[in-house]
Amino acid sequence: MFENLVAQPADALLNLIKLHNADPRVDKIDLGVGVYRTGQGDTPVFAAIKQAEAKLLATQDSKAYLGPEGDMGFVHALKPYIFGAKDSDGAVNMARIEGMQAPGGTGGVRLAIDLARRAGIKRVWMGTPSWPNHAQIVAASGLELKTFSHMTNAGTADLDALLGALRDSDPATDAVLLHGCCHNPTGVDYTPAQWDQIAALFGETGVLPILDLAYQGLGHGMEEDAYGVRKVCAAVPEALIAYSCDKNFGMYRDRVGAFYVMTRDGADLEKALSNGAAIARASWSMPPDHGAAAVRLILEDAAMTAVWLDELDTMRARMRQVRERLAAAGRIGPIDMVAVGAQSGLFSMLPLNAEQIMTLRSKHGIYMAGSGRINIAGLTVGNIEAFIGALADVTA
Ligand SMILES: Cc1ncc(COP(=O)(O)O)c(C=O)c1O
Repeated sequence: MFENLVAQPADALLNLIKLHNADPRVDKIDLGVGVYRTGQGDTPVFAAIKQAEAKLLATQDSKAYLGPEGDMGFVHALKPYIFGAKDSDGAVNMARIEGMQAPGGTGGVRLAIDLARRAGIKRVWMGTPSWPNHAQIVAASGLELKTFSHMTNAGTADLDALLGALRDSDPATDAVLLHGCCHNPTGVDYTPAQWDQIAALFGETGVLPILDLAYQGLGHGMEEDAYGVRKVCAAVPEALIAYSCDKNFGMYRDRVGAFYVMTRDGADLEKALSNGAAIARASWSMPPDHGAAAVRLILEDAAMTAVWLDELDTMRARMRQVRERLAAAGRIGPIDMVAVGAQSGLFSMLPLNAEQIMTLRSKHGIYMAGSGRINIAGLTVGNIEAFIGALADVTA
């Protein structure tokens, strides 16, 4: 039976971790896997999470099943951070939005795409390059993938390509999937003015938006990073939103995420949620509880929330500092470091060829994805000068 299988390529980034671990050089630099690192190169558990976990240990009195929708306290506590706190002019209509807990942002994206398919969506448009799992999830759901360019050669967002894709979409069968902020792998986000245009065109065309917000707070701030999601949701009658707490609460392996759906009315909302629950039941039955419960405890407690937001500020400030130092390098061969400085979040993608990426690895001990994506948080005061020097060397 299993001789019929076609072997699948190993995940390139996980392979990169193995190669990096096996490299004996003490000054090697890991810019591969997408986790935040401190200036000392660590990925610690947040202090706010430690506090919440201590409280959870002391107070949790049952681990009985919760149901396919998971911890609804968690889902509701996150909602104002994503969609805005107040019902004011131009604000998102919160009454038409409800959510479910999901196993990470990945589970949220999977729920969104599967629900879109059940509702009649046949094609998903996506800017490329994108997080590789987006295309895999679209394919796994049996939907057709259509692509447009995400980034111009100047390292800015290709707004025209997105607006063209929206105009070419058929609202009866097409959805457009966008990153809410901190685009993975490019770090290139739409500006607020561009989001205004995008939201207006979603509203005009009636095309279904699927918004993936996996790095809120790691770009410009919790409010700023939600701008696009809020604008689009305020302009359209229906939307799907996937959310990850794995980066902004440092919960990676605990798989903390959510999925939200916005519908035209309450009857549609009930139908959408019952379908979401059915998809979850057949996929993972119920999401893992621990991480979401810890996040809920933080969000329900003003003091713990302040500790968490402070930690997030520190992470963001550190990544800004790294970007500022990179920008100060100006142009390095074909690489416009000023553009890298203006990008957001954990990642940027450098225009390097396969040979240059291999030389960075073999000669300089610098490990990055084959696409040229670098994890900004892998750079520190101790290694950034060596990195800039190595880039100059391989692009000379
Ligand atoms: C754009 C994007 N969406 C979703 C995710 C999923 O995150 P997780 O499933 O780890 O919460 C990631 C993770 O790398 C991502 O980059």
